[in-house]
Amino acid sequence: MTSTVVTDIRTLVTNDPALGDGSPLGLVENAAVVLDGEHIAWVGPAADAPAADARYDAGGRAALPGYVDSHSHLLFGGDRTAEFNARMSGRPYTAGGIRTTVAATRESTDDELARNLRHFLDEACRQGTTTMETKSGYGLSPEQESRALRVAAEHTDEVTYMGAHVVAPEYADDPDGYVALVTGPMLDACAPYARWIDVFCEKGAFDGDQARAVLTAGKAKGLTPRIHANQLSHGPGVQLAVELGAASADHCTHLSDADVDALAAADDTVATLLPGCEFSTRAVYPDARRLLDAGATVALSTDCNPGSSFTSSMAFCVAVAVREMGMTPDEAVWSATAGGARALRRTDVGRLTPGALADLTLLDAPSHVHLAYRPGVPLTARVWHRGTPLA
Ligand code: NIG
Ligand code: FE
Repeated sequence: MTSTVVTDIRTLVTNDPALGDGSPLGLVENAAVVLDGEHIAWVGPAADAPAADARYDAGGRAALPGYVDSHSHLLFGGDRTAEFNARMSGRPYTAGGIRTTVAATRESTDDELARNLRHFLDEACRQGTTTMETKSGYGLSPEQESRALRVAAEHTDEVTYMGAHVVAPEYADDPDGYVALVTGPMLDACAPYARWIDVFCEKGAFDGDQARAVLTAGKAKGLTPRIHANQLSHGPGVQLAVELGAASADHCTHLSDADVDALAAADDTVATLLPGCEFSTRAVYPDARRLLDAGATVALSTDCNPGSSFTSSMAFCVAVAVREMGMTPDEAVWSATAGGARALRRTDVGRLTPGALADLTLLDAPSHVHLAYRPGVPLTARVWHRGTPLA
């Protein structure tokens, strides 16, 4: 196992207040990090760094934990350029577009699905994302959902079963029959490949009772819930997430005061906000400030999918969250790293502390603040994933 000391880091984001300046980002100025095999062995002032087998000079740039993108939909075929074009001419976004991707996904071979997934995971990694969750939900039959999840499990540990994305076209007249399929044979076929279960709780998708049935069945099979909640309108999704101990309530765009209070009081349900979605659907952004001021834990994620948010860039999400959602640059960077790790209940990523995975992004900038200050600029200079630098 080789060790490397990455030194001359102008600003290091550790996300451990005890290691740094006491702020949530745990900032260390003029820092070094020692990578040993796949893990971090040491973090601190460059002047105190221990010797290592190799040395990498960061040249006064900033470093932060690899982004943890806790919400994406990368198991799909085709794209929805025409729908996006129509939307930018004034057509509203609806859940109905999902069916276009379902048709294209069902046509894709396993190889095509795998290649598409790999393409977007690699694209994200080049931009600094070292942990990425992904969901099914464009197959909507036991065979199609389970083969998508089998493909996913070959590429990421963070796999989510989302047979309850919308009602499958074959069940258009029998939504409860579809819920029975999702909670029965489809769940049996999918559970072996997944860690999480998700449901789109929304008008035009699944109501509160159906969402509860889906998540409860998933829990009984050992999957942990997460929910697409309160995206297009106010609904029961957030309350359900907290009640069932979901790892996260995602979107959180339309929230009542009671929803905000419930998220603030929840110990282990994170509010995951997805700025790319409101950007790409020309919708009102969620109010991150309101959630943060109430004391909720907020994660940022891309929601990368061909319909509502076709971006894999966490840096873009950080910049939009700062500009449009009332977050400070520090809060947004925390949410895109440590917040995502909380949403995935991981303690080995989203932080640069001894023992954590050596997932590290170096920015072509002296500070993490530049992610919001210099929107749209490709600032990712180098990425280490489990101790290995990307070419
Ligand atoms: O998170 N809201 C539901 N699912 C996705 C959109 C999927 C699609 O439009 O294809 C989302 O925005
Ligand atoms: Fe989503």
